[in-house]
This record gives sequence, C-alpha cells and structure tokens, in this order.
Amino acid sequence: MTVASDVRVPPENSDAAPSGPGDAASLESAANAARGTGKRDYVQQMFSDIAPRYDLLNHVLSLNIDKAWRVKALRALGWREAPRGTYLDVCAGTLDVGAMLSRQDGFGGFVVGADFAVPMLQHGAGKASRRVLSPVGADALALPLADASVDGAIVAFGIRNVADLDAGLRELRRVVRPGGRFVILEFSTPRIPLVRWGYHAYFHHVLPLIGRLVSGHRSAYTYLPMSVAQFPTGDDLADRMRRAGFATVTWQPLTLGIAAIHIGQVSA
Ligand SMILES: C[S@@+](CC[C@H](N)C(=O)[O-])C[C@H]1O[C@@H](n2cnc3c(N)ncnc32)[C@H](O)[C@@H]1O
Repeated sequence: MTVASDVRVPPENSDAAPSGPGDAASLESAANAARGTGKRDYVQQMFSDIAPRYDLLNHVLSLNIDKAWRVKALRALGWREAPRGTYLDVCAGTLDVGAMLSRQDGFGGFVVGADFAVPMLQHGAGKASRRVLSPVGADALALPLADASVDGAIVAFGIRNVADLDAGLRELRRVVRPGGRFVILEFSTPRIPLVRWGYHAYFHHVLPLIGRLVSGHRSAYTYLPMSVAQFPTGDDLADRMRRAGFATVTWQPLTLGIAAIHIGQVSA
C-alpha cells in the first residue's frame, strides 16, 4: 500500500498556548463552523491548537466511556474477516482507534491514520509502530488512496467535523473495496427526555467550561455541542450513507443514545 505523504514528526512544543482571535470572535467562528460556514479552516486550526490536551480531555470529559465505544466500533469493522488487510482510520486525530486496531489479538494487517491537523497525528505518533500504523497528513475529502484500496475504514468522532458530509461519505465509499465496511462512531442526541435533559446540561454547560480551562482554547468545547446539534443522527445519517453508495447500512445507539455506531457495507 502506498500513500502520497507520510507525516514528518518534528519535536513537540506541547505547552504552547493557543493564539488567535479573542473570545467573541472565536465563539462566532465556532458557531459559524458548526453551521458549515468557514468550517474547514476553523476545524483544522482548532484541532491543531488543542492537540496537546486532546487525549486528556477526551477521556476525562467522556468519563472514559469512549474507550468501550471504540472497542465496539472496531468489532463492527469486521477486520477478523481479513486480519492481514489494510484499514483506514480517517479523521484519526491522535490515532487512538488506529493504534487500538493494530494491537488487537490476531491482527496482522496495516493501518493508515489520516487527518488534516498534523499536530494531532504528531501527538499520537508514539502509540504504535510505523510498521503497522502510518500517520498521513490528508484531507478526508481528497484521500491519497486508490479506488477500492482498503479492506475497511473507520471514523471516530470525526465525520461530524468534515465540511461536506456527503462528499466525505462518497470519498470513503470510493476507497473501500467491494464487500468492505465503513464504520462511523459519533455522538448522537438521546431520545428519552430525562436523559436528553441531563445530556444537554452536561454537554452545553459543564463540558465547555472544563474544556476551556484545560485546553486553553476559547471555543473548541463550545463548538463540540453545537456541531453535534447540527449533525444528522440515526436514520437520517443512515440515509445519507445509502445515498453516498453504501449498499447495506445498519446502526445502533450506544449508552442511552449518547452516541451511535453506523455501519455501511460496499456491495460485493
Ligand atoms: C474529534 S477529533 C477525533 C479524533 C479521533 N478519531 C478520536 O477518536 O479521538 C476529529 C478529527 O477530525 C479531523 N478532521 C476533521 N475534518 C477533517 C478532514 N476534512 N480531513 C481530515 N481530518 C479531518 C480533525 O483534524 C480532528 O483531528
């Protein structure tokens, strides 16, 4: 498997304070990005800024539930059917999913971890050997991969951030081989009113406060709940996947509907 560009990993400057616009401007950019305006640039810059604190915040703010969700998503990928295959972890961030896949008992294949925020990849680079996991600086909308070149693809908490969802889904459909799967793990909105109320209170009030204090970023953790609110969930997302060309699409809610896994299969 060849990919266009392998990321160089220069020395980290992990405690660099994020720079950029003031509070009001940053929050306005986040709100616009969540609605789709200026999203690509905002998302790329924001994740580059918070990369040093991303892993810590991820696990703390999700109360570590995200680990169990990632395990389920990997199972849904069905990699055991082709354990020596090539898999794509797209919007890979700090490479948690790709590294987890490379460590699975019985896995003898190769993982490409693609993300356009190179500092995120740099912070995850030590999680697995380059012999099994290759970080690649690439845009999910223009992957440096041939048609039908991977046995399966997975995205965890990333597709919501892609500026053009339908184009992103089509691009993933393009690179997955016939019979292969594309798995999406993403936040969702719970249906049970009491759960939705608690989730809303936590997501819109507690999370932005802690996120801002720990990451130092003015709007990243305000953007998160806003982007989830704008993102299609459940059957809507499943329909969008079908329209992008996935032949069979199924989905399941996780933890009272806080998150969901969607599985799209390319026709064999
Ligand atoms: C919330 S993080 C998720 C990271 C990782 N998958 C995880 O499970 O922790 C979202 C990632 O998506 C990446 N991303 C968003 N849009 C992208 C695009 N168009 N191309 C590549 N990466 C993208 C961001 O740079 C960021 O690293």
